[in-house]
Amino acid sequence: MTASPLPRDVHTVYWEDSCVRMIDQRILPEEFRILTLRDSHEVADAIRTMAVRGAPAIGISAAYGMALAALAASQRSVSDFRSAVEGAARELGSTRPTAVNLLWAIERMLRVLLGTDLPPVELAEALLAEARQMADEDVAACVAMGAYGAELLPDEGNILTHCNTGSLAAVYHGTALGVVRSAVEAGKRLHVWVDETRPRLQGMRLTAWECLQLGIPATLISDNVAGSLMRQGRVQAAIVGADSIAANGDTANKIGTYGVAVLAHAHGLPFYVAAPLSTVDFSLESGDEIPIEERDPSEVTDARTIRLAPEGVSVYNPAFDVTPSRLITAIITERGIAWPPFDTSLTALRNREN
Ligand code: MRU
Repeated sequence: MTASPLPRDVHTVYWEDSCVRMIDQRILPEEFRILTLRDSHEVADAIRTMAVRGAPAIGISAAYGMALAALAASQRSVSDFRSAVEGAARELGSTRPTAVNLLWAIERMLRVLLGTDLPPVELAEALLAEARQMADEDVAACVAMGAYGAELLPDEGNILTHCNTGSLAAVYHGTALGVVRSAVEAGKRLHVWVDETRPRLQGMRLTAWECLQLGIPATLISDNVAGSLMRQGRVQAAIVGADSIAANGDTANKIGTYGVAVLAHAHGLPFYVAAPLSTVDFSLESGDEIPIEERDPSEVTDARTIRLAPEGVSVYNPAFDVTPSRLITAIITERGIAWPPFDTSLTALRNREN
């Protein structure tokens, strides 16, 4: 399978001239700017401040961050080199707690580091090669998910999505929005309801922008509109991405996803999750074990720099929620579709040869 051109033909995160480059998602859609990051601390900061966000994209960014740390330390002694790369792994791994792809990518890099006794210069090159390989695999996984998932969507109708799961959330093409993109490219006549996604507005700022770039018909709605649209028969399916999926299929995704799933269930609509198998944490029995990130109260109280809430009010700002697997119709992966019961279907896909 091949992927069609990205908006502006740019990958979300990539390696160039011994630096990590990435689209700065904090300032889209007003400004399209590529950041150049020269050390692993800058990459950690970019993940923490959400210059890059979306589970697959932060995983690949962390891998490149470790490659930067390795190249910077490649002239040092073996023990100094190893502790520099392990230190970068710790810093990058502590940036955002929910997206399992972050730790998955770091662990994969650490396996390269610990799996050989090559000299530092060669090991640094091997780490960079591994990060590049992961980025390529991410593109292939998203395109494959697109092809599998497109089959599930109706030939025409309205698809509701939450947060941003397009190219910007991965290296290229995306997960849930990638499925819609593949379906539209295959000739399906779909229109997307884009949840604005309070409080960070990934839907309004990023998904709406990507749909415009790609020519996918889309309408922006506030998060409160979904139920009313479903009651009126104006939604045919909902599709979202995932930050962490437990072995039983319980899925953590952007806050508000659970509400969409409950609404879809109440209206008898399919609710799909699209995520690469690297998002499944088979060590977690259920979603109760998924750590949920809490972010700064100012994301809720302020609109950019303007304070709207009264001073002194207390705020609860979880970045993600967990949707129980009983509300999920199917999980779309790069190796095919997992159907309930997910504990067996996800394991079968993991064990299947590519
Ligand atoms: O806080 P964010 O913007 O990183 O959250 C992103 C999401 O919740 C996405 O839906 C998820 O990472 C899947 S994207 C491929």
